Amino acid sequence: MQPTIIGIIGCGNISDAYLKGAARSRLVRVKAVADIRADAAAAKAGEHGVDAVSVEALLADPDIEIVVNLTIPAAHAPVSLQIIAAGKHVYLEKPLATRFAAAKPVTQAAAAKGLRIGCAPDTFLGAAHQACRYAIDAGRIGVPVAGAAAVLTHGMEHWHPNPAFFYEHGGGPIHDLGPYYVTQLVNLLGPVARVSAEASAAFKTRTITSAPLAGQTISVTVPTTVNGTLAFASGANVTLSHSWDVWKHRRVPLEIYGTDGSLLVPDPNWFGGEPMISARGDDWTSIDIGAHPFGIPNRTIRTGTPVADYRIIGLLDMAAAIRAGRPHRVSGALALHVLEVLDAFERASVEGRHIAIETRCERPDKLPRGTDEEVFA
Ligand SMILES: NC(=O)c1ccc[n+]([C@@H]2O[C@H](COP(=O)([O-])OP(=O)(O)OC[C@H]3O[C@@H](n4cnc5c(N)ncnc54)[C@H](O)[C@@H]3O)[C@@H](O)[C@H]2O)c1
Repeated sequence: MQPTIIGIIGCGNISDAYLKGAARSRLVRVKAVADIRADAAAAKAGEHGVDAVSVEALLADPDIEIVVNLTIPAAHAPVSLQIIAAGKHVYLEKPLATRFAAAKPVTQAAAAKGLRIGCAPDTFLGAAHQACRYAIDAGRIGVPVAGAAAVLTHGMEHWHPNPAFFYEHGGGPIHDLGPYYVTQLVNLLGPVARVSAEASAAFKTRTITSAPLAGQTISVTVPTTVNGTLAFASGANVTLSHSWDVWKHRRVPLEIYGTDGSLLVPDPNWFGGEPMISARGDDWTSIDIGAHPFGIPNRTIRTGTPVADYRIIGLLDMAAAIRAGRPHRVSGALALHVLEVLDAFERASVEGRHIAIETRCERPDKLPRGTDEEVFA
């Protein structure tokens, strides 16, 4: 089968993951990249052996079927609308837009034209997270009734080369990291019915310490600490703590408590890890993730920790789904639901009440055990 031809708009930090992932896959081929900064597009094109073109030329290219939008959150909705207007499917990085209200017209425009939208994160397709989904669906912890999710760090300005967008609408720990946690929770437990929360920001400004902008000050316009609860349509409720105001802590990324046991879910920012399960208070035991694809560590992060990073498999699944005429797993409907939930944390805090969630989405289909990684990566 001929690969699906894709173009990429946005040639910053994350674009290497997509360009390298696409180069390993038989399903897609990157023809061209574009950026409002022509020099950024030229640099990535040179490194990865693809064409650098203008955004307009990329959108006008009849060979390109899917455009991957890797711009900053503020540009996600406008650039996605441009891609849809050009008659092409969109796959974008999270969040779908800076706000739920800005995302709705994007999903509506795609639906009106019969085009697909896919939106990261795709980490829930990783071996560790699929193993947790299989364990829950097999009833290994009974009926899930509660849980806790936590991601607590001191922010992004010490490593990202241009970190201002993390502290503007569409950023903050809730919109930047919340998609990983809330998407995995929806994958495990189904849609969210309502949200309550307290949100605050410990620092009004941040000083960049990473190159090349070290010494510059960033204004913080989003909450940087959020403690909330998610009430799921299933009846389960989960606490969620996301902060960039914390130096150190001893909490785990995600745990789910059921009527017959408890499940420790690895960090949903990555694809692998070691899920643990305890039946009715017994000792923790590991769940073997070996039967599931996309779990073997394939790179080492800044801290020296090896991680499984297969960011792109959501796009590959979408390309395969278009060919097969089946739904894709990392869908616009899922991302829209997650974004509505993310917005609700700040609203719940400001308005001092529960926020009911309007959208509902199905849990995405499980990835079959033994799926051939070669098909994807
Ligand atoms: N960096 C990471 O590790 C990481 C990881 C996961 C997800 N993401 C997500 O990926 C997206 C991009 O992040 P990044 O770190 O690569 O940011 P970045 O700032 O490094 O790169 C963004 C690029 O988009 C370009 N751009 C901005 N507006 C544009 C427009 N209107 N048209 C064309 N190009 C435009 C910029 O010039 C820049 O080159 C964000 O949504 C982020 O949340 C990043």
